Amino acid sequence: PIVKELFGLSDLEEKVRQAFGLQRVVIVPGDSDQSAHVRQELGRVGARVLRESLSPGDVVAVMGGSTMFRMASQFSMPATLKDNWFVPARGGLGESVDYQANTIASELAKRAGARYRMLHVPDHLSEEAYQTMMQEPSVREVVDMIRSARIVVHGIGDAMTMARRRKLDPETMEEMRADGALAEAFGYYFDRDGKVVHRMATAGLRLEDIEAAGVVIGIAGGRSKGEAIASVLRFGHDDVLVTDEAAAEEALRHL
Ligand code: F6P
Repeated sequence: PIVKELFGLSDLEEKVRQAFGLQRVVIVPGDSDQSAHVRQELGRVGARVLRESLSPGDVVAVMGGSTMFRMASQFSMPATLKDNWFVPARGGLGESVDYQANTIASELAKRAGARYRMLHVPDHLSEEAYQTMMQEPSVREVVDMIRSARIVVHGIGDAMTMARRRKLDPETMEEMRADGALAEAFGYYFDRDGKVVHRMATAGLRLEDIEAAGVVIGIAGGRSKGEAIASVLRFGHDDVLVTDEAAAEEALRHL
């Protein structure tokens, strides 16, 4: 706390907390866009915040991405979590294997001595194939568990960056741009008002499950993500934000 006072970050945390109506905001110094050390710190502090939020018996649904990866690889618990479950929040979202939600969930579980379930749903499912998969008892079981999660942990991305990373076709990207897509989280794309303008068809957490979850933790940093963070916070279902100084300043500019 003393170090934070010196950097003045507790003021910034309180400003962001009030501006976006959050329960808790934790800010690491610096800019993730500029420094690998800051990116690592964001992951470390994100892991601590998750640890502090956990209660016995909780089901934790996690998203993918490089920030979640750095969080998971620094997660630790003082005692094993025998009756906790880690599950991916959503099915395939076009991430490389290290950054898939399945990988993050299993890593967290291993590091905590907890249990995990994987969701094997391919990207770009047709409506028909999706309905068929959902009737599969083994898939259904995991999806029901995901939808009951008390804790949801997710990354936030810039909409066009994520659309490119997922190799969306140029037509869809153009439509999204025209609709004002600015941010991406949970496989949903949001405009500046936090309204959903596009979604990826995959199984798992729905918007109503995010609304129903007890604790939603967003972890994202870097000045380039500031506006996207503001837009997801305006969607209004996050309780806790872990970010860095540059992203926090930028988010406040886009109030
Ligand atoms: O694809 C999963 C995801 O969590 C997205 O929802 C989010 O936009 C992105 O990853 C963040 O990725 P990164 O932490 O690598 O910027």
